[in-house]
Amino acid sequence: MNTLLVQNVRPATQNDVEQMAKIYNRSFPEHIMVQRGLLNNPDYLSKHIQNPDEHWVVEGENGIIRGVAALAISPPVGLGEIERVCVDRQQRGRGLAQHLCRFLVNEAVNFGLGFVEAFARGDQPGMQRTFEKLGFKVYGVAPRFEVIHDGRVVREQFVHMGLELKPETIDTQNMLLIQEAAELYRLINK
Ligand SMILES: CC(C)(COP(=O)(O)OP(=O)(O)OC[C@H]1O[C@@H](n2cnc3c(N)ncnc32)[C@H](O)[C@@H]1OP(=O)(O)O)[C@@H](O)C(=O)NCCC(=O)NCCS
Repeated sequence: MNTLLVQNVRPATQNDVEQMAKIYNRSFPEHIMVQRGLLNNPDYLSKHIQNPDEHWVVEGENGIIRGVAALAISPPVGLGEIERVCVDRQQRGRGLAQHLCRFLVNEAVNFGLGFVEAFARGDQPGMQRTFEKLGFKVYGVAPRFEVIHDGRVVREQFVHMGLELKPETIDTQNMLLIQEAAELYRLINK
């Protein structure tokens, strides 16, 4: 699929970092990287959008950005991770997360990646559903655990999801899984 077909999504530029930072600040204040002044800091974003292994995209039109996401790539292993997805609070429920993530999956295909994964938050069914609709499988669910962020107790949970882009590169013959892992893997791939 051609990336240009995904409506109103494009690679982020230096002109976007102020608006991107504002979206994270007002619409994802619970994220540890916002609380630590990173994702909501234009300088931080400015550096990261220059990293050739991070592909940041924005959704919007007429100069107004409504959503942000990134694909982080590990080039030697052909693996990518979709992360930092955030849609402005006022704009949720209109499929924008879907557009952003579809664009990044297309990017992953264009980069020749074999597998793209995501760790969707357990308290964000919208995020899990977005990946499910794009064909991602659920590989695992972590327990809802307690972490201390800057002296505050926060509960976190992640759903590990992934999309096989090149099934021919998957080697099931040489997997050395313990029984429980093997059963889970069979269930996932049934
Ligand atoms: C998660 C988030 C990105 C979703 O963005 P969005 O643009 O509103 O999502 P979409 O409109 O594309 O909706 C995605 C799907 O999830 C569904 N969905 C949304 N909220 C839901 C909920 N609370 N329960 C169940 N399904 C839900 C939608 O109905 C849609 O599915 P459908 O097309 O089958 O109806 C947005 O809520 C957000 O920015 N949250 C804060 C940041 C965050 O948590 N990011 C994820 C980090 S892992």
